[in-house]
Amino acid sequence: MTAGLRRLATETVLSPANLIYPMFVCEGTGVRRAIASMPGVFNLSVDELLRDVAEFANKGLAGIILFGIPDTKDETGSSGCAESGVVQRAVRELKREFPELVVMTDVCLCEYTSHGHCGILDAGGSILNDETVERLAQMAVSHAEAGADVVAPSDMMDMRVGAIRSALDMEGFVNLPIMSYAVKYASAFYGPFRDAAQSTPSHGDRKSHQLNPANWREGLREAEADLAEGADILMVKPASHYLDMVRLLRDEFDVPIAAYQVSGEYSMIKAAAAQGWIDEERAAWESLVSMRRAGADLVLTYYARDVALGRIKYRF
Ligand code: PBG
Repeated sequence: MTAGLRRLATETVLSPANLIYPMFVCEGTGVRRAIASMPGVFNLSVDELLRDVAEFANKGLAGIILFGIPDTKDETGSSGCAESGVVQRAVRELKREFPELVVMTDVCLCEYTSHGHCGILDAGGSILNDETVERLAQMAVSHAEAGADVVAPSDMMDMRVGAIRSALDMEGFVNLPIMSYAVKYASAFYGPFRDAAQSTPSHGDRKSHQLNPANWREGLREAEADLAEGADILMVKPASHYLDMVRLLRDEFDVPIAAYQVSGEYSMIKAAAAQGWIDEERAAWESLVSMRRAGADLVLTYYARDVALGRIKYRF
């Protein structure tokens, strides 16, 4: 009957320590470009990024994950591996200013390729798995050299975790963990992200390498493969409609499990709240706590900063 007793009987807590905040870093200075479909999320140049991070750096978040928005894109995504690339520069500056902050980097070609695909294409427009994996390993090493604390491959190519692990080890980054987007579905809920990252494929889709939403056994197999190849953290993505996969992985494996509340999940709450149809704070809390309840140790969410800054403080 009372708030105190309900608190006493609460099984799951949502704390900033569980949350990872995704951020989009772009070229230039003084750039703060709003993303229409993701209210509250911006493309930030490195200087602006540092400003935002300063606001929550000591609020106990698990970490941040960076996505790069480069000025130049080409067929093979080479700007993603450059020492002076936008993510590499951001990581270096962040680690200099906030050495304690865990800085993760997204490893994928789609933000860096002119065609928006997650890999290098053959003449017919299909992704070349092995050539792509080589480039991804290069990208992961360049993030590591810049000082990234965790690399997170989101491309869904076959055998990429193993290739990234060997490349990191060969370059001396034997202790650098890999968070694998292991169980990643070909989802309609990535729509707003592709606005933010300017990574909508110019033709076709991602069904050749991302999972069919109808499949769970295949997701389990992807997770097993990534773990065997050396993944340290396994991720399920999207989160809301895939909580069965979060629970399955939590019960099956001993490594930390992450869930990604993707752009579309965030934008739907934002849009409905803007219409006055739902209570944003409660809806955000409920969605995030349900991911924790399903077994996610870590949740990647565009609400992470709001939780850290005490803007989502709902208690049942
Ligand atoms: C691919 C990547 C995507 C997201 C994270 N990494 C998009 C995709 O696969 O098309 C989506 C994240 C979101 O929707 O919030 N690099």
